[in-house]
Amino acid sequence: MSGPKILLVVGGGIAAYKSCELVRIIRKEGGEVTCVVTEGGQKFVTPMALAALSERPVYTTLWDLKNEVEMGHIQLSRQADLVVVCPATADLLAKMAAGIADDLATTLLLATDKPVMAVPAMNVRMWQHAATVRNVQTLRGAGVDVMEPDEGAMACGEYGPGRLPDPLAIWQRISWALGLAPVEVAPVPGAQRDALAYPGMPRAPEPDDDLGLGGLSGGMIARSLQRAKKAISFSFDEPAPASTSPSVAATSSLTAAKGSARAAPPTDPEALNHLTSPHGDAVRPEPFDPLDGQPEFETPAHRPLHGRHVLVTAGPTWEPIDPVRYIANRSSGKQGFAIAAAAAEAGARVTLVAGPVHLPTPSGVDRIDVESAREMAQAVAQALPADIAVMVAAVADWRTADVASEKIKKRGAAPPALELTENPDILATVARSPDRPRLLVGFAAETEAVIPHAKEKRARKGVDWIIANDVSGDVMGGDANAVHIVRGDADVVSLPEMPKEDVARVLVKRMADALA
Ligand SMILES: Cc1cc2nc3c(=O)[nH]c(=O)nc-3n(C[C@H](O)[C@H](O)[C@H](O)COP(=O)(O)O)c2cc1C
Repeated sequence: MSGPKILLVVGGGIAAYKSCELVRIIRKEGGEVTCVVTEGGQKFVTPMALAALSERPVYTTLWDLKNEVEMGHIQLSRQADLVVVCPATADLLAKMAAGIADDLATTLLLATDKPVMAVPAMNVRMWQHAATVRNVQTLRGAGVDVMEPDEGAMACGEYGPGRLPDPLAIWQRISWALGLAPVEVAPVPGAQRDALAYPGMPRAPEPDDDLGLGGLSGGMIARSLQRAKKAISFSFDEPAPASTSPSVAATSSLTAAKGSARAAPPTDPEALNHLTSPHGDAVRPEPFDPLDGQPEFETPAHRPLHGRHVLVTAGPTWEPIDPVRYIANRSSGKQGFAIAAAAAEAGARVTLVAGPVHLPTPSGVDRIDVESAREMAQAVAQALPADIAVMVAAVADWRTADVASEKIKKRGAAPPALELTENPDILATVARSPDRPRLLVGFAAETEAVIPHAKEKRARKGVDWIIANDVSGDVMGGDANAVHIVRGDADVVSLPEMPKEDVARVLVKRMADALA
């Protein structure tokens, strides 16, 4: 095993259940996770669930005689490459800032010589309370990488910053901190990253940062790195909201698909803090789903688009010249199809108007195939009304004024002159329609000045959001995408490069939040 080793401290917040998803993602990405759950954390998520998902013992107490023979709390704090506190409650942040060590989690956080990352989640007032603000400042000053929480509706019914960022965003931050993932947005000048090398995993191209200090008050993650990380979330001159915050996990659907846990570890409660066989010869029980019966995973809250109609366009359009030739573009349709799939997973009724592409129809999606821009415009008009429209298709701006009924023949040396005429502007038409969806999202594929062009397009077309991406590379047809969500002139969220399916899940989650 050569992946990164994460020590995950699960605090006592309502978002603790999402640590299960984080464990899944880290495992899927080839990492090892060892969990420590505070007493408060155990009120929200069971050590058994975390043990099953991590396939490792879960540690719950400082007062464990066997482990303390080997000074378990010190060992634990040293074996990891990165200590991640998630969720980091107000209480844990306060204890970390004050250097309190009154349980296993806080003791190992004080004893560690490894980088520490904290992912806060709490009520908006708790997050904005002067004491928490001070504690976060103290921790950041000491080099702890404290993520910004997401903004949105909270479990307590209030609204604001304080929500746990999506587990996928947390994983991206972890992998970036460990130097595993390339990030599209350039770090601020002078910032360096403490890239740790894992054989077989991509390594960040920057030189090592000399962290020097150890321990909670030492150089867990250098401050320069801290600034660089801010650049991931807020990479542009305008203030951007909270975090990069995707909201659903890479491995699962928005409906929190179950069953990806492999064989469970021993179910003997005694074994939670000990491996029954470190050599792996212990008899493993039948696989089971540790999330089974957790009501949060079954409620409509996890199908946030239930009852909504989402209209998606995808792919290129073909504008005929004659019976055999056409004008086209390089759009593969992958991003739009992924968005349609993610919206269906989130419980929406989805209509996908697709240009000519060779992609399978995502399950649960109604697909209408079209060829030209005018056909697409008509299909879109017929599909309205919708609660959300996401216009991803790369609609040709122009078509030939006349379509020849016979194949145009070569005539001597002179090539035929094609007279072009403008195609209908589908996005602007939907924006002006009496059936305008509550949330209208357009895409802008740009090759330069991506954000300014996107802002201009947003205003010109009268849409709510523009998802902008730089297509000067191999985005068109590729499997990954790095997008900027432009929701206003001073509201731009930049996501790092990620698979198009993950971009889709992030966008769908944000759209669901916007409609909630
Ligand atoms: C239902 C419920 C939900 C809670 N959610 C949060 C939360 O999201 N964030 C937080 O900081 N505290 C939350 N608290 C308060 C913490 O549980 C409490 O401060 C606890 O001492 C934290 O334990 P820890 O230090 O092990 O994390 C919640 C309490 C209850 C009863």
